[in-house]
Amino acid sequence: MKNLFVYLAFVFAVVFLFGFAYSFNPEGGDGKSIFVEKKCNTCHSVEVADIESKKKDALDLSKTGDKYDAEFLAKFITKKEKIDDKEHKIAMKGSEEEVKTVAEWLASLKSVETK
Ligand code: HEC
Repeated sequence: MKNLFVYLAFVFAVVFLFGFAYSFNPEGGDGKSIFVEKKCNTCHSVEVADIESKKKDALDLSKTGDKYDAEFLAKFITKKEKIDDKEHKIAMKGSEEEVKTVAEWLASLKSVETK
């Protein structure tokens, strides 16, 4: 019984430390790498960032920032907001921080002409 407790405490400590180390990782992932890591590129290209989807009719997100801001995008990709009355295909899985980072990155993608 005591061994089990020690074992559990150990497991918790490891999980905790990993989470801790990860959240303080200074390279914690920029929007682009999270985008690829979360496989958003199976359905989307981002030509301005050299991300090319294998899907033929992939929707390019190079100008997403022209239309939407980061706050809205964070909600849209987690299915809390709709565009034209439609939810996004998938709800992004990831930490709040990851969602925010991707949303901010996408919002920063603007066509040069605007503004
Ligand atoms: C299974 C395919 C699929 C995956 C995976 C996917 N998307 Fe999408 N996404 C779509 C489709 C389809 C649309 C267009 C929705 C529509 O027009 O009805 C869309 C639309 C969007 C839009 C809005 C673009 C616009 O200008 O209207 C954003 C932003 C977006 N996706 C971000 C993401 C992010 C970030 C990820 C990764 C977490 C992701 N998508 C993963 C299919 C996907």
